[in-house]
Amino acid sequence: MTRIKVNLRKRIDSSYNIYIENNAFSKIAADLKRKPAGNKYAVITDSNVKRIFGKQLMKHLKRKRLDACMIDFPPGESNKRLKTIESIQERMLAKGLNRKSAVIAFGGGIAGDVAGFAAASYMRGIPFIQLPTSLLAMVDSSIGGKVGVDLPSGKNSSGAFKQPESVYIHLNALKSLPEREMRNGMAEVVKHAVMADKKLFSFLEKNVNRIMGGNMKILGKVIKRNCEIKGRIVEKDELEENLRKTVNYGHTVGHALEVLTNYRKYSHGEAIAIGMNAAAIISEKMGLMDSGDVKRQRLLLERIGLPTKIPKNISNAKILRELKKDKKVIDGVEKFVLPKKIGKMHSIKGNYALDVSKGIISGALSEARK
Ligand SMILES: NC(=O)c1ccc[n+]([C@@H]2O[C@H](COP(=O)([O-])OP(=O)(O)OC[C@H]3O[C@@H](n4cnc5c(N)ncnc54)[C@H](O)[C@@H]3O)[C@@H](O)[C@H]2O)c1
Ligand SMILES: [Zn+2]
Repeated sequence: MTRIKVNLRKRIDSSYNIYIENNAFSKIAADLKRKPAGNKYAVITDSNVKRIFGKQLMKHLKRKRLDACMIDFPPGESNKRLKTIESIQERMLAKGLNRKSAVIAFGGGIAGDVAGFAAASYMRGIPFIQLPTSLLAMVDSSIGGKVGVDLPSGKNSSGAFKQPESVYIHLNALKSLPEREMRNGMAEVVKHAVMADKKLFSFLEKNVNRIMGGNMKILGKVIKRNCEIKGRIVEKDELEENLRKTVNYGHTVGHALEVLTNYRKYSHGEAIAIGMNAAAIISEKMGLMDSGDVKRQRLLLERIGLPTKIPKNISNAKILRELKKDKKVIDGVEKFVLPKKIGKMHSIKGNYALDVSKGIISGALSEARK
């Protein structure tokens, strides 16, 4: 026998900074001038964000004489597809980006996921920077390195783990974000608070009107705390083997509702708001969360303007069938991540993905319809 070992033991430091700035455009330009991430930059964004902020960002980059071009794609979940990656990467080639170049993922969660995946696979991987502009992207999707696209029959089913070089949160972008998108992001904010921080939850209860009214100071605080929470989770479990599964709180039923309504009726945040209410009721039925906390969560979501009730025309049977197809269902047993109280997720022997019987799920779904 001949044996040749290829030694690849690695020690990689993929740590990065998240900067929260009113105007992150000037900061990113100055930072890249001082410490380049590449010889050339592709700013990848959707056409909405390009229209609103494209010129402004490019002006800042050009002022520092950075070699940057902008590549856009049509907005919406239906364009978070492999064909978009192909079209983006073709344009990257045409514009002369090479192995030494870098990507700036500019926009909401979709632009972040798409641009990140384009970077992860272009010439076998080039660095990328996150420049989120939606609240959801600022508090959740830009942190943690999950990038990818949807397949025709599976959301986020083609992707990679690829941590960004850094994250620049441009708070001023929130001024033009439509209210429905604000609510969308707030659903993930409430998710983080229920998962990990009861003080944040109380802060949200107290300040919900100011937040929804666009108070930048309060929003800045909320975003900072959310980045810390998400960052700590990713530090402990980068590859979603256990603890990071808790970020799917509310997403099991929420995702089923998104699929059952063809991604048309609900925005992602609206679907997971209903999903969190359902999960909290499941938790209550399992003797974990008390009814007071279930109610507090529901009231906060409703004050934000998010739905919490499962619509009458979507039956338990339909939802249960959809849950079965979900990738979180392993060996036919329904797996849920559940809070045991506001600020704390439940785990059994350190395991956060919990088995829940069909009976309890059904009972909770019925209750979540009332
Ligand atoms: N990678 C992760 O860890 C992770 C986590 C959560 C969600 N996601 C993904 O994120 C996506 C949802 O992200 P999203 O809610 O940001 O959606 P999105 O990217 O579609 O943005 C929402 C809409 O707002 C527009 N927009 C963005 N910023 C704007 C601004 N400042 N002003 C005006 N309009 C603006 C966009 O063009 C879009 O039309 C989903 O595909 C979801 O799967 C990924
Ligand atoms: Zn989500």
